[in-house]
Amino acid sequence: MTSSATSLFAPVEADLCVLTENLKKLIGARHPVLFAAAEHLFGAKGKRLRPAIVLLISYATMMGKEISQRHRRLAEITEMIHTASLVHDDVVDESEVRRGIPTVHSSFGNRIAVLAGDFLFAQSSWYLANLDNLEVVKLLSEVIMDLAEGEIQQGLSRFACNLSIEAYLEKSYYKTASLIANSSKAAAVLSDASSEMANDLYQYGRHLGLAFQIVDDILDFTGSTEALGKPAGSDLKSGNLTAPVLFALEEKPYLEVLIDREFAQAGDWEQAISLVRDSRGIERSRELANHHAHLASEYLHDLPPSEARHTLLQLSDYVLSRLY
Ligand code: IPE
Ligand code: IPE
Ligand code: MG
Ligand code: MG
Repeated sequence: MTSSATSLFAPVEADLCVLTENLKKLIGARHPVLFAAAEHLFGAKGKRLRPAIVLLISYATMMGKEISQRHRRLAEITEMIHTASLVHDDVVDESEVRRGIPTVHSSFGNRIAVLAGDFLFAQSSWYLANLDNLEVVKLLSEVIMDLAEGEIQQGLSRFACNLSIEAYLEKSYYKTASLIANSSKAAAVLSDASSEMANDLYQYGRHLGLAFQIVDDILDFTGSTEALGKPAGSDLKSGNLTAPVLFALEEKPYLEVLIDREFAQAGDWEQAISLVRDSRGIERSRELANHHAHLASEYLHDLPPSEARHTLLQLSDYVLSRLY
């Protein structure tokens, strides 16, 4: 976890520590192999951005009253769903490193990784159902469908230079923003917030999630494997055309030639990376992320002032600050 995230999450740091311990217990109880995979996943340092958001929204919408066990369980479920999606994503992307350590599939094999991901999704559904709130069950079940939809859309548009920014954003909603949006709304629903408030918080999560994915996609070009805890430069190589590339294509026609032949010739990929870096692609992507982060903060307008609300506002800056 970066130090800026650590200090930012201070209001919910104690809750997040309990959450990490609970996640290990919830997953580990069933099977030694899954226990090993869970230790591996929840022992390593993820940023825990999503459960932090759920907890902060819970506090902000309870307006001074203590948050419930159901709020806490929702935060755990959210991190469980996220982690499940990463285990599967790393199989699909053939990524060897995650959270600074070898991925589940590289340690235990693809078969175990697919089953461990399935198990995490199933386990999260079980805990979700046990919240006994049909609206929340519907919100989070939709996320699990969306995650699969997002991976499928991405898989089908590999090396497709005609992908539009709109289609890229739609895919990013499915892959990333849906979970943040729907879990944000679910936290408000558990607080019995008004439907207007719940929908505002959905929009907050949606725009924050889009900004977060755009930033992640920029960092794939500008970050180091060491700092990211996962391989840098891998999206383009695998044909996943993200915002920086889509913008770069508008000014560098040769980039399309390289992508069309799937970097078949020696030096193609390196040249493509240089073309993206020499273009305004990174800058324009940063502006797009900025736009969504700003929109996110506007949806907090009607939330009564509190320390939690203040932190939620700062989170939109934190997402962008990861670039600097
Ligand atoms: C990674 O999410 C997947 C994306 C949506 C970009 P995070 O960057 O939040 O991953 P962890 O949980 O900190 O490992
Ligand atoms: C987000 O996309 C992953 C999921 C939401 C499953 P990425 O493919 O960009 O995530 P990283 O870069 O592998 O963490
Ligand atoms: Mg990936
Ligand atoms: Mg990425």
